[in-house]
Amino acid sequence: MVTCICLSPCIDKTVSIPKFTYGGMNRAKSIRTDPSGKGFNVARVLSRFGVKTVVQGFLFHENSELITKALEEDGVINDCCLLPGAVRTNTKILDEENHIITEINEPNPAVDAESMRKFEDKLREAAKRSEYVCFSGSLPAGFPPDTNERLMNAVSDTGSRCVLDAEGDALKAGLRANPYLVKPNKYELELFEGRPLNSSEEIRLAACRLASGASVVLVSLGKDGALITDGKRGFIAEAVDVDVKSTVGAGDSMVAGAVYALMEGMGIKTALKYGVAAAASCVSCEGTGLANAETAKKLIKQVKVTEISNLL
Ligand SMILES: Nc1ncnc2c1ncn2[C@@H]1O[C@H](COP(=O)(O)OP(=O)(O)OP(=O)(O)O)[C@@H](O)[C@H]1O
Ligand SMILES: [Mg+2]
Repeated sequence: MVTCICLSPCIDKTVSIPKFTYGGMNRAKSIRTDPSGKGFNVARVLSRFGVKTVVQGFLFHENSELITKALEEDGVINDCCLLPGAVRTNTKILDEENHIITEINEPNPAVDAESMRKFEDKLREAAKRSEYVCFSGSLPAGFPPDTNERLMNAVSDTGSRCVLDAEGDALKAGLRANPYLVKPNKYELELFEGRPLNSSEEIRLAACRLASGASVVLVSLGKDGALITDGKRGFIAEAVDVDVKSTVGAGDSMVAGAVYALMEGMGIKTALKYGVAAAASCVSCEGTGLANAETAKKLIKQVKVTEISNLL
């Protein structure tokens, strides 16, 4: 079983406007809302791969149906704490003429200390039954970046493996708890290093440095593919050449694909292939569609992987 943590869920609202006028009156042509939240995305894809998956974190009374329905449809067990209030909405304004998206993200939810304590009790129980616990996305407002470190230490005490997909200080703090797998993208790796990474060699060396805090480091590089290392061996994969419809959820689909493979006892090379194939399945779906397990399994044959000969 895998437990996926989603502490800051959100609903994505996409407003399409024929031509966006900054400071002017804009008329929406269409509006769509989609369930979101990185932890929920990872859980839904894992469940599509046939893994028994539980989600924990916070949902809110007023408008969680969109999310709970999506979790149910994908067979995810929902063990979230339900709090008063509403799930935040992240709005994407699509300027159709110029193909530009402007994003307006609402602040993360406020969660009281007592609710956080209740969540932690549930997490400790679930961790005992989970082979992997995945921490994805940001923390509720007001919780310090080392919150993930504390939660992950509690999970590791049960013998369960932690997976971390976070950025900035939350990534740095989480690494102190020695997660099994971390999945930064290039930007998150650059933030960690505190400088731009301008060549594949710089990316490879930065990934190896991260591997001193995590057992396995999987770096996603958008259209340039991905890299995986355990500090001893490393592999790079090109992204699959698919018709890209939307990259929303690609990183989360990649985490799910890689965790599925690792759970099945496959090595890091195969985990990379599964991650890249799941991401390719995701990007070839319209809108906020996530990876589909059948498509991902078919795409694996197209993932080109090479071993990095000069890792260190
Ligand atoms: N344009 C693309 N063409 C093909 N594959 C892509 C493209 N963009 C992303 N991917 C695939 O998706 C993977 C994850 O993408 P990316 O590096 O953008 O993750 P991310 O920034 O963490 O995404 P997220 O927004 O979900 O957090 C890449 O490693 C790649 O395999
Ligand atoms: Mg990401």
